[in-house]
Amino acid sequence: MSDSIKRIGVLTSGGDAPGMNAAVRAVVRACIYYEIEVFGVYRGYDGLINDNIEQLYVRSVSNILSRGGTFLGSARSAEFRTMDGRAKAYENFKKHELDALIVIGGDGSFTGADVFSQEFDVPVIGIPGTIDNDLAGTDLTIGFDTACNTAREAIDKIRDTASSHDRLFFIEVMGRDAGFIAVNVAIGGGAVGMIVPEHNWSMEKLIKRLQKGAANQKASNVVIVAEGCNLGGAYDIAKEVKKQLDYYDIRVTVLGHLRRGGSPTTIDRVLASRLGVAAVEGLRKGHSKEMVGVINNQIAYTPIGQAIKTEKRLDPEEFRIAKILSI
Ligand code: F6P
Repeated sequence: MSDSIKRIGVLTSGGDAPGMNAAVRAVVRACIYYEIEVFGVYRGYDGLINDNIEQLYVRSVSNILSRGGTFLGSARSAEFRTMDGRAKAYENFKKHELDALIVIGGDGSFTGADVFSQEFDVPVIGIPGTIDNDLAGTDLTIGFDTACNTAREAIDKIRDTASSHDRLFFIEVMGRDAGFIAVNVAIGGGAVGMIVPEHNWSMEKLIKRLQKGAANQKASNVVIVAEGCNLGGAYDIAKEVKKQLDYYDIRVTVLGHLRRGGSPTTIDRVLASRLGVAAVEGLRKGHSKEMVGVINNQIAYTPIGQAIKTEKRLDPEEFRIAKILSI
């Protein structure tokens, strides 16, 4: 166990995710438990560059466990992508006599963390916080479960009106270039199809699927469209389908940022709490340039480069199930 870690900085970066607050709380309380001083860096890497840093105490993180967003604020820092920006960040890192940094974010944030750690030989641990669930080295990322639940609730509501009017809905969900949310909510929300970026869909296949639904007298049809898929956005797809299947009364809903807010689910709170403690304990054990995750319910540390670069694949079994159930 290393005693060299006496002061840790923590920041949230990139797109916020429900459960980030729970992770910050866990980092702060674990630090205090191990008699480490902990400093909150506000607005992601911009806070490190602009010296927007202050010490956090046990009560600084009271009543944040249930709140969505991140009380530290977040940003996608353009300046941190420059050498000058990172040099300024390092100046402030030294000014506050920090020994290590914990970065809660997604792949863009981790790329920055990896570069910073290598350039200035700074111990860094990443905690996966993104609704997209697109990081290898962890079964789940913080925020994914909440985002899926929020989207699934919305889909349930849309289905009520879809079936009243015998309509076809295309519902677009976020996920950047990953379809994890789309697959999850398509199964959980009983969708007739899901169009994800990882698979090349053809309009022909979609039309056939919808024709089959119509022949089977489906009362309502919901198709989940993941942003970044090869057929375009939900509006483009709806327009094309209408041209070919004129008998469908079609509507589109883009859920957008709605799914990124809200109080985190218990799964996200527990995950964030475990990862926050494991990040602090990992630094004490000498882990660095690693992301802490949970694999098969066990804490696992994965080199940050590997977590970002390894493709996390959708589970083919989930597609098989979705297909069987969508008839
Ligand atoms: O990475 C999280 C995410 O919500 C993606 O799903 C989405 O593509 C992107 O961020 C949206 O980014 P912004 O909030 O900057 O528009």
